[in-house]
Amino acid sequence: MAVVGIDLGTTYSAVATLDEMKKPLVLLNTDGGNYTPSVVFFESEKNIVVGEHAKNTSEVYPERVAQFVKNDMGSDRTWKFFGKAYRPEEISAMILQKLKQDAEAVLEKPITGAVITVPAIFGEAQRNATRDAAKIAGLEVIAILEEPVAAALNYGLARAGGIKETQNILVYDLGGGTFDVTIMRVSENSVTMLYTGGDRRLGGKLWDDEIMGYVATRFAERHGADPRDGPDSRQSLRLAAENAKRQLTQKEKAAIKCDHAGNTERVELTREQFDELTAHLLKRTETACDLAVAELVEKGDLSGWDDIHQVLLVGGSSKMPQVTKMMQRLSGREPKLHEPDLAVAKGAALFSEMELLRVAQLTGDAANLQRHGIGAHDAALLPKTKVTRVCSFALGNKCLKSRSTDEYVNEVLIQKNTTLPAKGKGTFYTIRPDQRSVEIIVLEGDDPDPERCIELGKGVITGIPSGLPDESPVEVTFELTDESVIRVTAIETMHDTRCDFELKRKTGQTAMDIRQAADDLARKTIE
Ligand SMILES: Nc1ncnc2c1ncn2[C@@H]1O[C@H](COP(=O)(O)OP(=O)(O)OP(=O)(O)O)[C@@H](O)[C@H]1O
Ligand SMILES: [Mg+2]
Repeated sequence: MAVVGIDLGTTYSAVATLDEMKKPLVLLNTDGGNYTPSVVFFESEKNIVVGEHAKNTSEVYPERVAQFVKNDMGSDRTWKFFGKAYRPEEISAMILQKLKQDAEAVLEKPITGAVITVPAIFGEAQRNATRDAAKIAGLEVIAILEEPVAAALNYGLARAGGIKETQNILVYDLGGGTFDVTIMRVSENSVTMLYTGGDRRLGGKLWDDEIMGYVATRFAERHGADPRDGPDSRQSLRLAAENAKRQLTQKEKAAIKCDHAGNTERVELTREQFDELTAHLLKRTETACDLAVAELVEKGDLSGWDDIHQVLLVGGSSKMPQVTKMMQRLSGREPKLHEPDLAVAKGAALFSEMELLRVAQLTGDAANLQRHGIGAHDAALLPKTKVTRVCSFALGNKCLKSRSTDEYVNEVLIQKNTTLPAKGKGTFYTIRPDQRSVEIIVLEGDDPDPERCIELGKGVITGIPSGLPDESPVEVTFELTDESVIRVTAIETMHDTRCDFELKRKTGQTAMDIRQAADDLARKTIE
């Protein structure tokens, strides 16, 4: 029995576990690699290939490949293969299944649970879709953990003797599909998240797109056709662009060969040109970092950039020299590129056993630890770091703006970046005499306009005795737990009529959907 940490990435995924000394260890996949491309190839309806081979085959059969699925987690998008539509959770489940299989083969024991990481800026829908993917793959989720927290945990705990003095660390995480900026306070025995923000759709893929665009324009100038228009040449160009980008991390110049419609063009790109082409993307990350510091200055948590003691760069795209250069200029310090590809999986592995131990101590139930193969000896070796997180999104109540309109407004009860567990209260009022019920609608987001927020769920106070005067108060309390469960209590105070509900995880996937998807996956071979 073993538990693992899984970095389920947009482009690459990695799995780690703890060794006997409780040091994180990345598990090699069957190709001998530290990480596995998050690419799924449908060889046939029943035969699914995940990883390096799928990525290589993607050039030959682009129409049978699903990639960058994480970008669409929590959405209704589907991919169609052999006449069947697959949701993002189902494709992600195939990746998880492959990671689990490979890890079990190396460890030679079954995996009983996993911590799966997500970008800190993932909202409820994306987090729940990730949980559902794990369920479909038959993986027990110990926790969903934010990627930057995992990276900071790995960093903090990897220091010899830990960190002695309290440090504010900014984690800059630029991966394949997402960008997160997180500021953490790390001390010898605690990791506290102060702020998280970023861009859900900003990642290395967009840097590739810029190279693709550059090459396609050169190609079109010469041959009058856009290589991005053909699925095969588009996919080849994508792979070549990513390769060129990686080369430009090491070298000053790269060449890209592009074949399309019987023509071939070789295009050269210097690092300087590449930096220019992508400056607008880098700028977006810079602005997000500046905003992070500014918000904490406003809250009184930081005095300014000089209060950031360390800039930690993680995510494969942080290897681009432009990132180090920009962050050095912005922070006035030399940023640390600490295990950019593996920090997240390793931190998740650390968190997996620490979290099981924390819960066991809280509940006094040791049976769960035994079930996961964690004994007293392991517990004694585990770091005692307390991890405190913040919520990455605001939660509000949808209510009428005023009684004279039928316009709704989002009244935020829990602000973004509040420490978890979080609690928020508000008083609302009934809108007509003799009102017998009150509806509470929970929104994710801090925009005053409910249309720009995501509705997470609702509940109703019913059975209010007759004769309730107009504008009677209704106290509404939202609680968000460490495990990001949302509890709502609403009380019509005059008669103490109340409703309590826990938000049913809104994923669009019912238990039945998940069971069917799991059965479907079980009938497939994943290699
Ligand atoms: N040496 C390199 N130079 C430039 N870019 C690189 C290099 N190595 C990897 N990358 C890029 O890093 C990205 C992958 O990074 P990583 O594995 O951290 O992302 P991910 O976990 O898949 O994505 P996310 O965290 O956004 O879900 C890809 O876009 C890849 O092209
Ligand atoms: Mg990542």
